[in-house]
Amino acid sequence: MKLHTVYQQLKPRPEEQLPSPAVSWKPGDKKVRWVLLIMTLTTMGLGALLTQLLLWPRLRAPQERTQSPPNSVCEDPCQVVLVESIPEGLTFPKGPVHPSISQAWLDLVAGAQHSLDIASFYWTLTNNDTQTHEPSAYQGEQILQQLKSLAPKGVSVRVAVSKPRGPQPQADLQALLKSGAQVRMVDMQKLTHGVLHTKFWVVDQTHIYIGSANMDWRSLTQVKELGVVVYNCSCLAQDLAKVFEAYWYLGQPDSSIPSPWPDNYTTHYNLETPMQLRLNGTLAQAFLSSAPPTLCPGGRTPDLRALLSLVNDARDFVYVAVMNYLPIMEYSHPRRFWPAIDDALRRAAFERGVRVRLLVSCWSHSEPALRPFLLSLAALQDNHTHYDVQVRLFVVPSTEAQARIPYARVNHNKYMVTDRAAYVGTSNWSGNYFTQTAGSALVVNQSEAVGLRTQLEAVFLRDWDSPYSHELDSPGLSEGRSCRLL
Ligand SMILES: *[C@@H]1O[C@H](CO)[C@@H](O)[C@H](O)[C@H]1NC(C)=O
Ligand SMILES: *[C@@H]1O[C@H](CO)[C@@H](O)[C@H](O)[C@H]1NC(C)=O
Ligand SMILES: *[C@@H]1O[C@H](CO)[C@@H](O)[C@H](O)[C@H]1NC(C)=O
Ligand SMILES: *[C@@H]1O[C@H](CO)[C@@H](O)[C@H](O)[C@H]1NC(C)=O
Ligand SMILES: *[C@@H]1O[C@H](CO)[C@@H](O)[C@H](O)[C@H]1NC(C)=O
Ligand SMILES: *[C@@H]1O[C@H](CO)[C@@H](O)[C@H](O)[C@H]1NC(C)=O
Ligand SMILES: *[C@@H]1O[C@H](CO)[C@@H](O)[C@H](O)[C@H]1NC(C)=O
Repeated sequence: MKLHTVYQQLKPRPEEQLPSPAVSWKPGDKKVRWVLLIMTLTTMGLGALLTQLLLWPRLRAPQERTQSPPNSVCEDPCQVVLVESIPEGLTFPKGPVHPSISQAWLDLVAGAQHSLDIASFYWTLTNNDTQTHEPSAYQGEQILQQLKSLAPKGVSVRVAVSKPRGPQPQADLQALLKSGAQVRMVDMQKLTHGVLHTKFWVVDQTHIYIGSANMDWRSLTQVKELGVVVYNCSCLAQDLAKVFEAYWYLGQPDSSIPSPWPDNYTTHYNLETPMQLRLNGTLAQAFLSSAPPTLCPGGRTPDLRALLSLVNDARDFVYVAVMNYLPIMEYSHPRRFWPAIDDALRRAAFERGVRVRLLVSCWSHSEPALRPFLLSLAALQDNHTHYDVQVRLFVVPSTEAQARIPYARVNHNKYMVTDRAAYVGTSNWSGNYFTQTAGSALVVNQSEAVGLRTQLEAVFLRDWDSPYSHELDSPGLSEGRSCRLL
């Protein structure tokens, strides 16, 4: 036997590479391996070595299993439901109506039996948090009340939340802690110079919610949000749980991002080998993407790659509804140009004649740089060459009283639908959200005429054709206080 072979077999298994106080092995520490090798050879003798060799295939077996993607169809009876928050007073003359996010959350809490894991940006579920006296905070306050009742009933509640940079209301988190829930703050600023912006729930490793709504009462009644709930779908839930476990790990004091991530964080399901499952009885393919790339253990498709592949895969149309669209590194100093998504949209329109529609939000806090970049993209539309690109601004109107609610009355949703797939995410479409900020998205490919993709397309068209959607240069927009761009 060659020494080299023995050396290979003494390499720590990837699980053992997790930095932990008890085991101070570093994966690259050759000295440790040599010491071990010599120890094995001298103190244990050849017999022990042979035993190790015999054990080796068995030790490796689980690892190999995790690396070959299962090609079977998940047998869970998954039910997928689009859920929305429609700000009070917003009515659509026509189009689909979906269950509310607040009702979906209440149902999920009511159904939780063993565990609830929540990935979140910040928590302001009560009037007290925002120092307001709005009747429309009721739904958020009710959710917090119900969440607090879980731990005393024996349900394990874990909350991963972005570590705040400045003073932020902590009352909800304190109340949850007091109820027996566990809370970990993820210091993304230290880890990636970003924030934890992800918003999802995993209930009993069986049901999931993912979408744009923050743990904020305004996200339930005063901000327009879109998400997806998948019930009775442990295949998908267990995969999203792995994303949560990564945040949970990083929420420990003084943690750093493992490189590589231990084996048990890897996934089989990604862009190349999506999960095969039945959604409402219809065959579909799905996977969960994650950002930034350093938070993608083996097999996990980075969010930007997932998004770009959907744009590149579109043959007929790409409809995008996002709060914010900027081909720049918004939060970098100095700010940098970042055309990854913009390029893909232009290429789709120019090279493949794809119909591109971009519905971006305009509100009192819109970034001024938005306007020139949107005009630039829209300028591609041309009656002679037939490049088919249109950009519109969605403005949520407000009464005087509603306008006084801080940081509300905006279209906050973040999704894309193409002729081939649906993408429901948690990130704004600008550079830092994909390179530094933690986010996640559910990508579903369902070619049937009934299904999530079709429903999402109908939601987009409802909003696009609504009275709240405006041409970039439409006169009168500037008169409303709610949109500061025009
Ligand atoms: C209300 O908010 C304040 C800080 O804004 C906090 O100190 C107090 O504990 C909160 N009260 C409740 C009942 O949550
Ligand atoms: C999930 O499965 C349970 C048990 O089979 C069933 O009672 C429930 O209605 C299902 N939920 C949904 C939303 O389909
Ligand atoms: C991987 O294993 C470690 C150590 O047992 C555990 O703490 C962690 O939660 C596991 N991660 C996942 C995704 O299961
Ligand atoms: C393109 O044609 C439409 C209708 O024919 C017209 O309203 C629009 O102004 C034209 N756009 C440009 C850029 O010429
Ligand atoms: C998205 O972008 C807007 C505008 O820049 C910003 O206010 C918001 O905090 C960002 N993140 C969220 C919560 O979507
Ligand atoms: C969706 O599935 C079809 C086949 O069902 C496949 O041809 C297509 O490439 C898939 N699209 C995406 C975005 O995965
Ligand atoms: C799936 O079924 C539920 C009812 O069980 C329905 O509310 C939902 O709209 C369906 N989803 C899709 C994508 O058809």
